[in-house]
Amino acid sequence: MRQAIRDRISRRTFTEEVLQEKEIKQIKEKILQLNQESGLTVEFRFDGREVFAARSKSYGLFKNVCSLVIMKGPASDPALKEKIGYYGEELVLDLTDMGLGTCWVAGTFDRKLIEVPGGEEMYCVIPVGHIEKVTLREKMLRSAVSKKRKSVAERLTGAADAPRWVTDAMEAVQLAPSAVNSQHPIFHFKEGKVTADVVDNSPTDLIDLGIAKRNFAEAAGGQFEMGNGGAFCE
Ligand SMILES: Cc1cc2nc3c(=O)[nH]c(=O)nc-3n(C[C@H](O)[C@H](O)[C@H](O)COP(=O)(O)O)c2cc1C
Repeated sequence: MRQAIRDRISRRTFTEEVLQEKEIKQIKEKILQLNQESGLTVEFRFDGREVFAARSKSYGLFKNVCSLVIMKGPASDPALKEKIGYYGEELVLDLTDMGLGTCWVAGTFDRKLIEVPGGEEMYCVIPVGHIEKVTLREKMLRSAVSKKRKSVAERLTGAADAPRWVTDAMEAVQLAPSAVNSQHPIFHFKEGKVTADVVDNSPTDLIDLGIAKRNFAEAAGGQFEMGNGGAFCE
């Protein structure tokens, strides 16, 4: 499994050292590629401090946020939320490979401060920056928001018949981030085929589905169709 999947955890405390020119260039190139591939209009903002400045909005969860990735795309795209998750998680894994810290944020930021062009919808942001060893404060926050990881049996129907490559890829799904660690997306193995879906109850469920699909696809070496119930293809 890709090491970044194992290494990634949500990071909410950054160092005061801002991103270097070289890192910014690399991030912008990745975003350009992601947008070309997906049709999304993801943007990098070097100084997004104000978006996390209001304690009333961020509950003081975050420290030293400077740069952000703004996750948005055309409102007319029926798979927009899922794409944000699927392509955004690929970016998160690339940023993890670069040694940078990230956190998906859909709720605890001041969304009014991000202007979105007409016809586009913005669902979340991903602060990105330099990090040090996980601090005690972060560990405490993590155990407060992170309920236990669900088992593979809870996330995969048909698990008894599933071959090893499917259960191995499910380990990557277990490690995927999800809003309030809800882990709602479910995978199905039936007649040799893997599909994934989610009960779309909260504003973040379809984003979580895209993220979970990406982790599965990374681990299994293939792609996932967009759409609630979409199939994995090698
Ligand atoms: C779509 C999405 C939205 C999230 N929104 C927030 C948020 O508003 N504030 C926050 O502190 N963490 C947020 N998180 C991070 C989750 O709390 C975190 O991924 C989860 O608890 C699992 O922990 P881990 O990422 O360290 O594995 C979000 C995660 C996802 C995937």
